[in-house]
Amino acid sequence: MKQSIYKNRRLKLVKKYKNSVFLIPSSNHKKKSHDTDYPFRQDSNFYYLTGFDEPHCLLVISNIEGKIKSTLFVRPKDEFLEMWSGRRLGPVAAKTDLKMDDVHSIEKLQKLLPSLLDGHQNLYIDFFDHKNLFEEVRKSVHSLTLRKKNKSYIPNDWHHLPPIIGEMRLVKDQDEIKAMKKANKITKKAHEAAMALTRPGTNEREVDALLNYIFNKEGGNGQAYENIVASGDNANILHYVENNTLVKDGDLMLIDAGCQYNYYASDVTRTFPVNGVFSDNQKIIYEIVLSSQKKAIKAVKPGQTLAKIHEVASKELIKGLITLKLLKGTVAENFKSGKYKKFYPHGTGHWLGLDVHDNVPYLSEKLEDIKFKPGMVITVEPGLYFPAHDKKIPKKYRGIGIRIEDDILVTSKGYENLSENIPKEIKEVERACQQNHLSFLS
Ligand code: GLY
Ligand code: MN
Ligand code: MN
Repeated sequence: MKQSIYKNRRLKLVKKYKNSVFLIPSSNHKKKSHDTDYPFRQDSNFYYLTGFDEPHCLLVISNIEGKIKSTLFVRPKDEFLEMWSGRRLGPVAAKTDLKMDDVHSIEKLQKLLPSLLDGHQNLYIDFFDHKNLFEEVRKSVHSLTLRKKNKSYIPNDWHHLPPIIGEMRLVKDQDEIKAMKKANKITKKAHEAAMALTRPGTNEREVDALLNYIFNKEGGNGQAYENIVASGDNANILHYVENNTLVKDGDLMLIDAGCQYNYYASDVTRTFPVNGVFSDNQKIIYEIVLSSQKKAIKAVKPGQTLAKIHEVASKELIKGLITLKLLKGTVAENFKSGKYKKFYPHGTGHWLGLDVHDNVPYLSEKLEDIKFKPGMVITVEPGLYFPAHDKKIPKKYRGIGIRIEDDILVTSKGYENLSENIPKEIKEVERACQQNHLSFLS
């Protein structure tokens, strides 16, 4: 994305907060085992405001009487360290490349922080993460208090920052939507290849590897979250990520996996028959989940809420469960009592964006459910789960776990399904399962 996009976001974020200073740190490396880190993943808020992908940085945005200034701290250039652990942009290039007003080495943070905070009344920071930064800021403000002589403000009013950035991130702009569409395009290819690769005797880990291969090969930056590659009864563990079981003939396979593109997530689930053909009992459950998912997606439009989408999806699932005699009573009674949660224990959707469970608000300032607006993106993901060990469930359904999940963009007219073309009708899914996976690797 163009750097002017990030600059405009910084201006938009702070414009209405006069005499305020905002502190947004990057992520840092996280230890995986001795001398080894997890792959670096930039902090979503920091990325949203800078587009910059290095650790150990801090963005400081100041608004004094409408005069807005962005200062960035970055790692200094260091020939020796760069040879060992990778290139650094450095302060000089960062200033022009990232359209900052000022850039310093992060090594100067302690020295420069008091003067950067001085003159502001309000300070916006994350209260809960980044303890070291919080402590550094606390010390800096304390030092300002001790040597206070001139008539300038000291930041005594502290505010929790993430929900304010979250509110901005709730509605996606055109560039974000483009990135999410691209993520879904890659995810489509990965799911289709996974359907084609899976056969009785395949190990879940091969399918997991193929998904990641396609996510990267097609230009994404890896997976948006740990892939769930769950065959048979493993599908009844909602966050199953071991992905190491041999796939058995006659079982279903549930794959919940999405590519990350330019840090934007897709989040898609498909369930398909390992041997390429749904059994009659699998079909019965699949049709109920599919009908629930379609009905819930159709209900997406401006003004709608996630709670209402959950109600629509749940009621359709309940209707199916009553027909199968797995629930007694009426749809309304079951929805009210929550008895259906034994088979459908999770919600129907969440916000999607830079984080797979996007770190944006679910309630308005008046504590009401946030109403959909064009540009918001949600998932719609109903499912039904019948664990193999549950003797109260008829034997013919035990071991079946089905979820279908799509990514839905709210538009002025209603919605656009970003993952629409990933097979989900029974015939389409069976056809995709019978393809040769090698055709997806070229
Ligand atoms: N993949 C996580 C979720 O569907 O919410
Ligand atoms: Mn998912
Ligand atoms: Mn999801």
